[in-house]
Amino acid sequence: MTEPPKTLSWMGDRLRLLDQRKLPAEVMNVDCFTPEEAAEAIRNMTVRGAPAIGVTAAFGLALAALRCGATDPSGMRNELGIAGEMLRLSRPTAVNLGWAVDRILKAADIPRLDSVEDVRATVIREAETMAAEDVEINRRIGRHGLPLLPDGARILHHCNTGSLAAVDYGTALGIVRTAAEGGKKVHVFVDETRPRLQGARLTAWELGRLGIPYTLITDGAAAFAMKMFGVDLCLVGCDRVAANGDTANKIGTYHLALAAKAHGVPFYVACPVSTIDMDCVSGSDIRIEERDADEITRINGIAVAPADAVVWNPAFDVTPADAITAFITENGIVRPPFGPGLADAVRKSESDRLRIPRRLRRG
Ligand code: MRU
Repeated sequence: MTEPPKTLSWMGDRLRLLDQRKLPAEVMNVDCFTPEEAAEAIRNMTVRGAPAIGVTAAFGLALAALRCGATDPSGMRNELGIAGEMLRLSRPTAVNLGWAVDRILKAADIPRLDSVEDVRATVIREAETMAAEDVEINRRIGRHGLPLLPDGARILHHCNTGSLAAVDYGTALGIVRTAAEGGKKVHVFVDETRPRLQGARLTAWELGRLGIPYTLITDGAAAFAMKMFGVDLCLVGCDRVAANGDTANKIGTYHLALAAKAHGVPFYVACPVSTIDMDCVSGSDIRIEERDADEITRINGIAVAPADAVVWNPAFDVTPADAITAFITENGIVRPPFGPGLADAVRKSESDRLRIPRRLRRG
């Protein structure tokens, strides 16, 4: 088993990101020195996956605090607010981005921080705490999800939700990894995930390094794989869960859920509680990112469609709550009706923040 290289590392004066655009052909890092560079890395998908971009935004604010020229705390808070808005807007669908920015700005806003040095140190410490918490949360998701995977499970997975999508370990793939590490036999059908190929390039690569057996399929083969191989469950991650359970995730998730329903295959969504957005009443409140036509009309720079093709390229879709069997969070499994269960999971995390282990806590 070979651990995948680190998705992101705080180097004290810069944020080091594994360049996921180049994987699996090249394993290369990119260093960000400014919040603008961190925002661009999120936008161009050097770093991707909801938890990873949240923590990147947090360190983007740490970079803003380091580079800030203000001489008083209120000037620094002002600059952090501006950088925060830029980072928040770098990708619109994953709620983790706004959540991370809000958490850092709140930490910087404590009145007792009466020097720029104090504010700067607090921002950096909070970002480091969030990174450590992400790993802990993913391991908890892994433990909660474990009973849902029978020994010998055939799992269908979409996009990439492994350590590359988080600080480490991952959410949905973290559950698969927990099962494999505990001695269960599992087999993953990996959707290639057009158009950015997160499944083919990243998930297949991660599973291979972990020694977890998989079969790579095209997105269009998923329903047929359910019919032919008796898939036991679908397991995906998510970018934003509305209060009623409607869920935004990588484009292709919706039709996977419909195919699962038609075949009687349970459809599970793994998510940290930070991905639940109680301000979105339903999926129609979720803003869906649309990306460049080039992602569809070209592969590795080579045209695969007419140059003047009319293209619609939503990066995410919304799976209605009634196509989801359950959510697997760090606070346990949430089953229908989702409204009260999701609200409880959020409330529990808010009260747990007061009980976070000292080694993970700020200050
Ligand atoms: O466009 P991406 O690669 O950032 O999309 C990622 C996904 O849709 C993941 O499924 C989601 O962020 C969960 S990652 C734990």
